[in-house]
Amino acid sequence: MEMKKIKFVINGQPCELKVYPWATLLEMIREDLQLIGTKEGCGQGECGSCTVIMDGKTINSCLVPAVEADGKEITTIEGLARGDKLHPVQEAFVENAGMQCGFCTPGMIMSAKALLDRNPAPSDEEIRAGIAGNFCRCTGYTKIIESIRAAAALMEGRK
Ligand code: FES
Ligand code: FES
Repeated sequence: MEMKKIKFVINGQPCELKVYPWATLLEMIREDLQLIGTKEGCGQGECGSCTVIMDGKTINSCLVPAVEADGKEITTIEGLARGDKLHPVQEAFVENAGMQCGFCTPGMIMSAKALLDRNPAPSDEEIRAGIAGNFCRCTGYTKIIESIRAAAALMEGRK
């Protein structure tokens, strides 16, 4: 089957690629673009480790065909820091021990960022709902929720 040429913006950079119709967005991100911060866990839309933001919404990139990126704007974990300055959500995860093995962390941070962009002061219940699609096998979630609460405070303080 023929490859399709697609154009999109990823982490602020315009990009043009040829992809197979069966390739997933996750494969395109990790293999073609070598942005390996986005993780593959289940590969079936269950764990959230492959979460990226496309046109402002979180998606499981393992479920989305790469061709759907055509004309879209995508942000991965690599697009959050500004030079050596971490995004406040990343900073808060580091400061509040929001990660252990770190495998779920990129997806968790992308979901947290999208949540705080639409709701800058979420309740703990809203935080839990915001990361409901992201599984963590290590932390028990308490430190993750604390980290997201701290990120909200950091972002509020920098307005
Ligand atoms: S790898 Fe995509 S949801 Fe698990
Ligand atoms: S920190 Fe290990 S899976 Fe979440």
